[in-house]
Amino acid sequence: MSHKKGAIGIFDSGYGGLSVFKEIKKLLPEYDYIYLGDNARVPYGTRSFDTVYEFTRQCVFKLFDLGCNLVILACNTASAKALKNIQKKDLPPGKKVLGVIRPTTEIIHTFTQSNKIGILATQGTVKSESYLMEIAKFHPHIDVYQHACPLWVPIVEYGEKDSPGTSYFVKRDIERLLSKDKDIDTILLACTHYPLLMNVLKKHTPEHINIVSQGPLVASSLQDYLSRHTEIDNLCLKNGKTDFYTTDNPSEFNKQGKIFFKQNVFSQHIEVI
Ligand code: DGL
Repeated sequence: MSHKKGAIGIFDSGYGGLSVFKEIKKLLPEYDYIYLGDNARVPYGTRSFDTVYEFTRQCVFKLFDLGCNLVILACNTASAKALKNIQKKDLPPGKKVLGVIRPTTEIIHTFTQSNKIGILATQGTVKSESYLMEIAKFHPHIDVYQHACPLWVPIVEYGEKDSPGTSYFVKRDIERLLSKDKDIDTILLACTHYPLLMNVLKKHTPEHINIVSQGPLVASSLQDYLSRHTEIDNLCLKNGKTDFYTTDNPSEFNKQGKIFFKQNVFSQHIEVI
């Protein structure tokens, strides 16, 4: 087991993980963090299982090389397609990787009264059926309906969230999800990019329906995890410092990242292979 302290690593295919990281940093400001966005290879959501696994593994190992002992996959697609394999096959001693699906499914029942939940996610997450399986495990009485929104990540990544065309696609996808059951009372945004579309989402969703973002759920689950696993908490640096890395262009990352993170972002370029 490594005894060298390190930052907590936060990984996403691009900017989406910043919507989760923002909440983690708000709740746990004393920790050091390294955020890595694989912007050069985004989106992951339309890629094969093997490709997402390989890309995610490369990024997680880059974060280990940068000294992280604990890495959070702030990406549903990577959590759905790569987390289990990495945990089973690849982890060096003393290193930990956690995802966003488990902390979300553990608590999702508290948002619904009708016990009918709609899930919006990437094609990769929907096809993996990870949410269906995890929710069935914890809350077998809840019916889950999924709908994939393949256009939403590119819309957000390319800074088009306020374009008129975005409203058309968001409305269409919400209608398609809600048409699966009239009693759906909760929509889970199971992609870390989607909270960026919240204003448009609210415009096209009936008021009685809860729209749930994962950021706060993942943040409080991490807080709980660190308080229960003091051996891991003791390996985390606590100087309140954050470094951002992107596999693409840092000035573009700084510009777009600020929109997600709601604070200035100063990133550096990094190669992961
Ligand atoms: N933000 C990611 C997620 O939560 C994936 C986006 C993508 O690369 O397709 O699924």
